[in-house]
Formats: sequence, C-alpha cells, structure tokens
Amino acid sequence: MRVLIIGSGIAGLSAALEARAAGHRVILATRGALGGGSTPRAQGGIAAVLPGTGDSVDAHVADTLRAGAGHGDAGAVRLLCGAAEGAIAALEHAGTRFDRAAGGERARGREAAHSAARILHAGGDRTGAEISRALCAAVRAAEIDVREDHFLAELLGAGGRVRGAEFWRGTGREEIFADAVILATGGAGALYAYSTTDTLATGDGVAAAARAGAALADIEFYQFHPTALARPGSFLISEAVRGEGALLRDRSGRRFLTAVHPDAELAPRDVVARAIAATMARDGGRPVDLDARHLGAERLAARFPGITRELADRGLDWSRECIPVAPAAHYWMGGIETDIRGRSTLPGLYAIGEAARTGVHGANRLASNSLLEAVVFARQAVAALTAPGPWRQGHGTHPEPPLPLESAPAPAPAPAYSRSALQGLCWEHLGLRRDRAGLDRTERILRGWIRDAPSPPRGIAAAEDQNLRELALAITRAARARASSLGAHERADDPRSSPSPRPVHQLGATA
Ligand code: SIN
Repeated sequence: MRVLIIGSGIAGLSAALEARAAGHRVILATRGALGGGSTPRAQGGIAAVLPGTGDSVDAHVADTLRAGAGHGDAGAVRLLCGAAEGAIAALEHAGTRFDRAAGGERARGREAAHSAARILHAGGDRTGAEISRALCAAVRAAEIDVREDHFLAELLGAGGRVRGAEFWRGTGREEIFADAVILATGGAGALYAYSTTDTLATGDGVAAAARAGAALADIEFYQFHPTALARPGSFLISEAVRGEGALLRDRSGRRFLTAVHPDAELAPRDVVARAIAATMARDGGRPVDLDARHLGAERLAARFPGITRELADRGLDWSRECIPVAPAAHYWMGGIETDIRGRSTLPGLYAIGEAARTGVHGANRLASNSLLEAVVFARQAVAALTAPGPWRQGHGTHPEPPLPLESAPAPAPAPAYSRSALQGLCWEHLGLRRDRAGLDRTERILRGWIRDAPSPPRGIAAAEDQNLRELALAITRAARARASSLGAHERADDPRSSPSPRPVHQLGATA
C-alpha cells in the first residue's frame, strides 16, 4: 500500500517507521525540515506504567480520566495506558535513550495529577529532542521517501475516499497521491498570543480535514500550561520542575495554591493555570513566581540542564532567585475526530497525535500523556491500514447556528486583520476564561475577517492565516455551544464557575 504521512513530529515519525516495517511504501511529507515542530520542545517526558515498578495501568487510567474531568473515553484511555510498555519498546528500538537511575532501571519522574512517579525522561528535560533525534535518524536510515518543505494546502479525494494531498512548495503547488493519508500535523498554538508551541503550529491538517468534510470534536478544549517563562523570548518551564518540589508564590511570597486544591502545585494543569491567572489579575497582570531555590544548583543543573541553560542565556539563575511565570497555550485536546484505530470520518483519512481527537484527553490532558498517545495511536493507525471494516460516522462538534450577522450590532471598533490581532482576540476570548458576550464578539469579528480575506489564499502565509481564522471560528462556535464549564473550558458566565476576575496577562512584564 502507498501511504502518505503528513507531519514529522513524534506521531508522524512513529507512523512512518511502523508503516515501513509493515511493508508499505511510505512518503513522509513535512512542512519544514524533518523533525521540526513541537516534539523537540517537549521537556517533561512520556508517561508509562512499566512492569516491576509497583505502579498499575488502572491507576494511570484513573488519573487520566480524572484530569480529563470525566470527559475522556474510558476505552480509549485504557488502550492508551495499557499500550505504554510496547510504545516505550518501540521508541527504544528506534534508538531513544531514556535516562537511567543509579540502579540501571529507567529513571521515573513525578508530574502534576499523577498518583505515581511514572514519567520517563531523556537528557533530563530534553525528552522530546532525544526522541526526535532517534526517530529522525531511524527514518533517514529506512527506505522512506522524505519530502521536506511541503506545506499542506488541501486534501484530495476521489470515489468517496481521501486519495492524497496538494502541497504548497514555495509559490508552486504539488500533488501527491496515495492509498491512505495519515495526518500528523500537530495543533494550533499559533492561534494564541502566548504559546509554548512552535510558531509553525497553525493547525494546517485540522483545517484541511475540516474543509474536506471530516468531523472535528472537542475543539473547545484548549490546554494552557501553567508555567511559561514570563519574559520576552518565553519558553516552557516543565511541570516536572514542580514534580521535583518547586513552589508557586504570589507577589508577596505566599503559596496561593494551597488554598485552591489539596494537591496544591501538583493539582491538574487547568486548575493550576486558572489559579495563576486569577492571582495575576489580582496583582495587576504581574506574573507569579516559581521558586526552585531549595532544590539547589547542582540538582537543578543535573535534572533540568536545558531549562537551566535557557534561563542562564537570559541572565537568570534559578538556584538563587525566583523565576517569573505565567500560563501560555500549550495543547489542543480536540481535533479531527477518530476512533481508536486512528480513523477519521472520511474514508482513507487517518489522524494521529495532537491533530487528532482520540478521546484519551477528555477536557484536560494529563501531563506527559501526549507523547504516549502519539506513539500508541500511530501504531493503531498503521495496523488499521490493512484491516477491513466500515468507516464510522462521527459525533463531531455541533456548534450553535451562526449568529445572524446582519441583525447584530457591529463590534465597535472592529480591528483590521493581522496575525497578532487574531492572536490577541483568541487570547482574550478563547483563552482561560470565556463568556457569551466575548464569544459573540469574537464570532462577528472572525466572520468579517473571513468574508474580507482573498480566496483562495495565495502563498503559504496567506494559507496559514486562512487556517487560523477558520479554526478560531470553529472553536468560538464550539465554545459558545458549551455553556457550562468543564476541564480546560471555563465559562465565566456559568453560575457554578468561581468568581475570579478575567485574566490579565503581561508575559513580557518583569517581576
Ligand atoms: C511539561 O514538561 O510540563 C510538558 C509536558 C506535557 O505537556 O505533557
């Protein structure tokens, strides 16, 4: 079978290796260089229950469902957690070197909302970079046709099936045909003014799949990581740092999370991110402090060499001073709706990794489950390529009907479109707290921008903008339809929500 895989993060690379090992002819197309995107930025690690650790798959399943606010699919979660040992074996077979403890066993870290230390890591805090290095080398060594600098424009269909894709190559276009297409194009962090993801995370696969008619699901659930460095040139400060014992303090040095959740700094990510945003709003937008000083210079440098170096490059020494942090967009729980075999609602089209909504993350992803999901569902999708069976109907997102644009008062003033205007709008109204009035205003602005944009887009930047506008509108409408708060989706106008103020964010502010 000729298989076209689009995207070269952990999901796409894993699928390419699996498909090649299964004897398929594999074309791996990626928008930049092989191994770009968000995977190399992953710090914390990969959650996995391994034999002989005293941990259990049942506990991992329970933690995942709890963090997901009960919205996850229990069957998909059980598959995910139960397949971890095989996923780790596949990564090691491809050359990944996980960190080892003094006794020679794989070192295991703790992260928020996990009931056990089950996070495998590599290079201390460079887990994604190590996985990407190993998988890219394995792909280069395999007989895989790698096509770099291929920006996905549209999916191609024939006879009721997806049959390939059309790509932008510079200013020209190229078509690639295949028996099956696996989308592994990642999320859409570029929607937001503050994000931990790569700027190339423009949701291209999800937008192209939606235009082709694939169902999307759970797209209102966007996760905000609690701790990005609150300085220009921001970057992620791993959850694993709090797992090692770092604390969060407000401007007066007080630990504010002890009053919010029994697990304090190790509460689920959505809880911590919202508590930080509320504290920042109270303090005029100034970031909170991450205090890791008590861990000591030696331990910080050994366990978190990447973060230590990034901070030092910015003149910060976290063994001696607190570090200013604030939430930033991090991960999209929703995406192309798939079954547990990675199959979308369009025959011939599979989706894996962050582009997919497999149901494992529910309304809020448990830390370090994303790398695991990428490997497990890459293997599921490849196994499904040759398995017969009908394609399923999707449940999809059922947004409210569009607002009657004509009768609605124009938002005043309606800003002109620019990427940064879009990112500011999404940060304010599709961010940590949403409300009906803000969502209505956002929909009207987005529909005006979509109506006025040149169509079809000419060139890659214009195509990215089209994708971002369309996805923002879809998220807005899904968020409007979900009138009550759940997991990462907080409706400030839900009477059950806490009365904390709207987040004010000054990521560039100094302490
Ligand atoms: C982190 O290191 O905090 C990120 C891990 C994740 O997103 O699962």
